Amino acid sequence: MKPLLDVLQGKSPSRRPIWLMRQAGRYLPEYREVRKKAGSFLDLCYSPNLAAEVTLQPLRRFDLDAAILFSDILVVPQAMGLSLDFVENEGPKLETVSDDAGVQRLDVRNAATNLGKVYETVSLVRKELNKRVGLIGFCGGAWTVASYMIEGGSSDRKRALAVATRGEAWFGDLVEKVIEVSVDYLCRQVEAGAEALQIFDSWAGDVPAELRESVVFKPSRKIMDGVRERHPHVPVILFARGLGGGHVDAARYCAPNALGVEQGVSLSELSARLGDGIAVQGNLEPEKLLAGEKEFRAAVQAVLEDAPRGRHIFNLGHGILPSVAPERVTELVRLIREYDGV
Ligand code: CP3
Repeated sequence: MKPLLDVLQGKSPSRRPIWLMRQAGRYLPEYREVRKKAGSFLDLCYSPNLAAEVTLQPLRRFDLDAAILFSDILVVPQAMGLSLDFVENEGPKLETVSDDAGVQRLDVRNAATNLGKVYETVSLVRKELNKRVGLIGFCGGAWTVASYMIEGGSSDRKRALAVATRGEAWFGDLVEKVIEVSVDYLCRQVEAGAEALQIFDSWAGDVPAELRESVVFKPSRKIMDGVRERHPHVPVILFARGLGGGHVDAARYCAPNALGVEQGVSLSELSARLGDGIAVQGNLEPEKLLAGEKEFRAAVQAVLEDAPRGRHIFNLGHGILPSVAPERVTELVRLIREYDGV
């Protein structure tokens, strides 16, 4: 009945599911309106009524198949005790962890409980969704979250990579703590009404091949195992961005229900190697939504022709850009439905 969940569970969907990463956000004037009312971005994340409202905004405008909880991956380290701020035009500013003492200070016990407002948002949204739209909860991948905790904000991740490469014991402990909180956090989202989960390991592609198993695959596998222990049937989408040819290894190691991939990866080749048990999600280049009409249409067509039938969730290769015209998204959805004849 819900195309997103059908694809994730290996059933044939009534139509190809579509959703977009960062579908609630600054490209929508109605988002900017609510964001202004909330004050700061974090105030918006922690105001369940307003966060539910912006989660639902893209569904009102576009014929999408999923809502994604409006929150951020960095609320997890904040809930573990690190101060967090989002500075206008600069991005996140997070208190850093740089040694064993810093890791010891992190609060694992209360972290997931501290995020009660997020679960309230989930349950408010779930009540508003019609019977065809799925609700996606999420967390960051442990590598991506740990890298922000080490770097303190948007960066080239060199410091975090150096710590990981040296195999510092405190890095391993940090990752384990992030995993533990993430499992609890995702389970509580499921208990509040999330029907599918996505792990955003946005910086997976930075990690050199020899460290991928320990730093990227294993932590995501542990998060998924932990969630499945309590909620065996909740489907998980793994988005380990930037692995290129390494996505097959991620899928074999982690066994997600779907694999989200960045632009440039061939969905047909990937799907052929994964088999029918794992669906693929992606992967229109976000910049194509800003291109001329002809280039835009050709790029959409190329993704559709390459995607495996019945085993594809349409998405972008990364988040939608703030300068995209909302009408382009209307057109995108129309083009996909037209191609599918639905
Ligand atoms: O997809 C959605 O619509 C759900 C909401 C969502 C946000 N962030 C809202 C947000 C999700 C799933 C995220 C995930 C997230 N957050 C990731 C992983 C995905 C990715 O994009 O790679 C990362 C790395 C972050 C951390 C983060 N949050 C950064 C680096 C920034 C600043 C850059 C930016 O885009 O502004 C944010 C801020 C943020 N998160 C905004 C939104 C809507 C913009 C805040 C605003 O309104 O000013």
